[in-house]
Amino acid sequence: MKTISFILNGKKTVVEVRDSETLLYALRERLGITSVKEGCEIGECGTCTVLIDDEPHYSCMTLASKANGSDVKTVEFLGTADLLHPLQEAFINSGAVQCGYCTPGMLLSAYSLLLKNKDPDTDDIREAISGNLCRCTGYIQIVEAIKDAAGLCKHNS
Ligand code: FES
Ligand code: FES
Repeated sequence: MKTISFILNGKKTVVEVRDSETLLYALRERLGITSVKEGCEIGECGTCTVLIDDEPHYSCMTLASKANGSDVKTVEFLGTADLLHPLQEAFINSGAVQCGYCTPGMLLSAYSLLLKNKDPDTDDIREAISGNLCRCTGYIQIVEAIKDAAGLCKHNS
């Protein structure tokens, strides 16, 4: 076991992990962040996406020890039930959430895109979410939601 420390959703977090442990396991099983979903566990579905230093990473393919000293964000960083992030509002309004399993990872990939590009076009959005599979929506509503949120974020900034 080793002790690692990192910033998780804005708060300093210290946790003991095994050398071989994934960040997915540490977040879900040691820190109780179950919004980070366990899907394929082989780097293909994106349900386990988290942001490390604001870039999307598959937490199932990332050793927990790699997070040491980093800034890690999960969907809890974006908003709360009482105060949703514009992306979360747009996903709801556009019908971009069906079963919801892909949604936390999808939101984080979209959030990372909007940090870098305030006015993404459809291709930019499709590229940004290309690592996140959705089995329900067909992606059209998700792309529309991200475009709408980009407009809202631009308007509010
Ligand atoms: S669970 Fe990590 S990519 Fe599928
Ligand atoms: S909403 Fe079900 S997988 Fe995307």
